[in-house]
Amino acid sequence: MTGLQGKRILFGVTGSIAAYKAADWVRSLVKEEALVTVVMTGAAGRFVTPLTFSALSGNPVHHDMFDETPDRVMAHINLSRESDVVLVAPATAQTISRLAHGMADDLLATAVLAARIPVVICPAMNTSMLTHPATAANIDRLLDYGYHLVQPGSGDLACGETGDGRLADWEVARETLLSIFQTQDLKGRRILITAGPTREPLDPARFLSNRSSGKMGYALARTARRRGAEVTLVAGPVHLPDPPGVELVRVTTAAEMAQAVFDQAPSMDIVVKSAAVADFKPMACADHKIKKTGQGLQLDLVKNVDILATLGSNRRPGQVLVGFAAESRDHAGEGQRKLREKNLDLIVVNDILGARTGFDVETNQVTLIDREAATPLPLLSKEATADRIWDRIVQLLAAGFGDALV
Ligand code: PMT
Repeated sequence: MTGLQGKRILFGVTGSIAAYKAADWVRSLVKEEALVTVVMTGAAGRFVTPLTFSALSGNPVHHDMFDETPDRVMAHINLSRESDVVLVAPATAQTISRLAHGMADDLLATAVLAARIPVVICPAMNTSMLTHPATAANIDRLLDYGYHLVQPGSGDLACGETGDGRLADWEVARETLLSIFQTQDLKGRRILITAGPTREPLDPARFLSNRSSGKMGYALARTARRRGAEVTLVAGPVHLPDPPGVELVRVTTAAEMAQAVFDQAPSMDIVVKSAAVADFKPMACADHKIKKTGQGLQLDLVKNVDILATLGSNRRPGQVLVGFAAESRDHAGEGQRKLREKNLDLIVVNDILGARTGFDVETNQVTLIDREAATPLPLLSKEATADRIWDRIVQLLAAGFGDALV
């Protein structure tokens, strides 16, 4: 089950070449079992036919304000009454202007005017049109009405220019939709999350690292953002798409991660360290590739700074500190020990031996251990696991946790 399953989306398509991308968005929504009803402006129909959208959504497409078919009379009122959210994508400069001025001159504009549900606007246009003061003022007006804006992306535009104005990626719009359906219980919280492995260079060609993919940390970042937090993600080398709306700091080594975390942590309300930081690094990185000699090779390793333990001994009152523990045995004992020794409020103990938990899989099975209780969670997706971790952190905050133990 995803957060969009069963959600009723009133999808407004307007006259931009990006209308063809909207067809793919409808497909993605339907794949997640959202219920999509499409309203097209006349201009949208010049780019993509209504048949495309009715085939993809499985529902009739609406475009005529004066349709006398019995189930479509008063469509401008009923469409939004029967929906959970209005999504206008692509939204042209013309449509944005009409919505900003409360026009009711076609079915989509009228349905938006009549809507008492969240409205999400996804602009797509040429850069000069987007940056024109008139469009900027119209967008500000929509924000004043409380509409949600999905910022357009940057890149090659259909007009041949390069710049801002591309319809945002679906993943970005999806995050906005998900946040609308999510309780904003982390709103105003500043959260620092670490993710992924670190790499400790051995020579110009080689490094020591581990199997962390970053999936758990990125899931924490996405879900915290959806719940309203301001999120900074410090990530080691991973191959994952950037989480929308999250400030991303990329690092490679444990020393770089330590520096980034120590720079950011003092201003954070919550720090969650899910990264798999290398405990050791080669004493020196060779200037040239280490050659085979016919003999074995001994490496001299030195300890990396324990970032979490350092945070635990310097934390400021009120800050919530959460660690992870990747364990293959004595999970509870090791979790309790690290909770105590690193001065944490909560530790997420990970079984790394199961086929579907821990490193580089989509699911996880963890136990949440805090100063009062140990709560085993079932096998869940990493996003669902992240949400359960935030639920527990929200409870701890409500109970006044977050003050240093020592
Ligand atoms: O990235 P994925 O593929 O999704 O996998 C997720 C995960 C298995 C990496 C993640 O769920 C997890 O368990 N992360 C913690 C891994 C780890 O390093 O555990 P640890 O028990 O060695 O370390 C305990 C805690 O100290 C961790 O919060 C770690 O970030 C922190 N630490 C460790 C060493 C160090 N030098 N500095 C640290 O801050």
